[in-house]
Amino acid sequence: MAAEEQLSRPRVPSDRLKEAQGLQSPLKPTPENIAKGKSLFEGKGTCFTCHGKEGTGEGLAAAGLDPPPRNFTNSAFHAMRTDGELFWVIKHGSPGTAMMPMVGSVITEEEAWLVLLYERSLGRKK
Ligand code: HEC
Repeated sequence: MAAEEQLSRPRVPSDRLKEAQGLQSPLKPTPENIAKGKSLFEGKGTCFTCHGKEGTGEGLAAAGLDPPPRNFTNSAFHAMRTDGELFWVIKHGSPGTAMMPMVGSVITEEEAWLVLLYERSLGRKK
């Protein structure tokens, strides 16, 4: 499968996709919320272990993962997903991959929205 096609395929199962795409973030991308998301990404949320401290997908635990962790500095990727879809994956995981459900076990729903604001901000740099 071509890399671009592999990336554009939605990770939410088709029977849940419409519902997930419609979910709206209750939080605004204020500098304060993005800073909170960054500390979750680099700390309690453990996201950096796979996605890398810079969010490029090159964390210490990323070696050998297939598919590899998402690179959040790729702005083209962000354009392919709604906030709701990404929230759904943070909550329920990406079935069949190393991306496990994080809400409940590791972070709360509100923290998932915060960390998503940070991941989105990485795609806007440069
Ligand atoms: C054990 C490794 C691992 C950890 C820890 C991890 N991820 Fe992931 N993540 C992955 C992998 C692998 C993928 C790619 C899954 C795929 O291609 O379907 C991914 C994909 C994603 C995606 C993209 C979903 C999409 O639709 O393409 C988001 C958003 C995400 N992770 C957020 C997070 C957040 C937030 C955290 C921390 C709370 C986190 N991840 C922690 C491995 C991890």
